[in-house]
Amino acid sequence: MKLRSRHLLGIKDLSPEEIQHILDTAESFLEVSGREIKKVPTLRGRTVINFFVEASTRTRTSFEVAEKRLSADTFNITASASSLVKGETLIDTALNLEAMRPDFIVMRHSEAGAHELLARVCKASIVNAGDGAHEHPTQALLDAMTMRQRFGRLAGLKVTILGDVRHSRVARSNIHLLKTMGSEVTLCGPPTLIPPGIEALGAKVTYNADQACTGADVVMVLRMQLERMKTGYVPTLREYAKLYALNPARLKLMHPDGIVMHPGPMNRGVEIDSRVADGPRSVILDQVANGVAVRMAVLYLLAGGEREESAPEAR
Ligand code: CP
Repeated sequence: MKLRSRHLLGIKDLSPEEIQHILDTAESFLEVSGREIKKVPTLRGRTVINFFVEASTRTRTSFEVAEKRLSADTFNITASASSLVKGETLIDTALNLEAMRPDFIVMRHSEAGAHELLARVCKASIVNAGDGAHEHPTQALLDAMTMRQRFGRLAGLKVTILGDVRHSRVARSNIHLLKTMGSEVTLCGPPTLIPPGIEALGAKVTYNADQACTGADVVMVLRMQLERMKTGYVPTLREYAKLYALNPARLKLMHPDGIVMHPGPMNRGVEIDSRVADGPRSVILDQVANGVAVRMAVLYLLAGGEREESAPEAR
């Protein structure tokens, strides 16, 4: 099965079948990371530019690891080391990168919709590695892969997304994906951090964290994005932690087999208690491990999905 678009701009553009296919493909790529020689020739001769205009640890490294495991040639550009600092526009930057004939441009940008602009002018496949508070599609895919590994399904799962929903592209992509795949999604946070009208995406909203955690199969904790808060959305972080942090008491309210997720980076002691983050029900590092397989799958499928057999010496 081929993906309908050569770009990955957001989860909202994917059908349930495409999501399923990406997750199945990612499962098949997990095995590569377990080999002694972690490399297959799938994207040999292809060029990927990783263009990160916003900071990232997990996504940027994970894309680069995925690209190298697929044998692509990879190049990294950050905003501070690019001519963006001299005032070059995003479109001019993209056209100049495009002139070097990359096959993919993987971009993170602070402005929602920046990737749609690039997709209009570039022949390369554009992959959204996060745009403003809009979408972070590969994060939602790796989250879904992690849930599916634990529960064997997404349909019918009770998923609570807890915290700073207002500033979260992770929340939006997860809502799109989970609703598409038949999960029940509850959003919880202080009223100032839940955007008005977000129920239109099909999620329930509650401002009571105890209620939101009760019976949940998954609690996905979101980071308080303090760098995006120009005005005070909460009186104090201590009060926020008391009312909304996932702590051992709220963990007990979840389904006994329920799991704890966080996209990272974590503010320990603010939105999540370290005893929960490091506890046996946390799958936070599984999410990171799955991120490599998901990004391998996305690049492979966007390239057309023609998978060469691994070279014998690569096994
Ligand atoms: N989850 C995530 O996007 O983390 P980074 O900002 O470190 O990439």
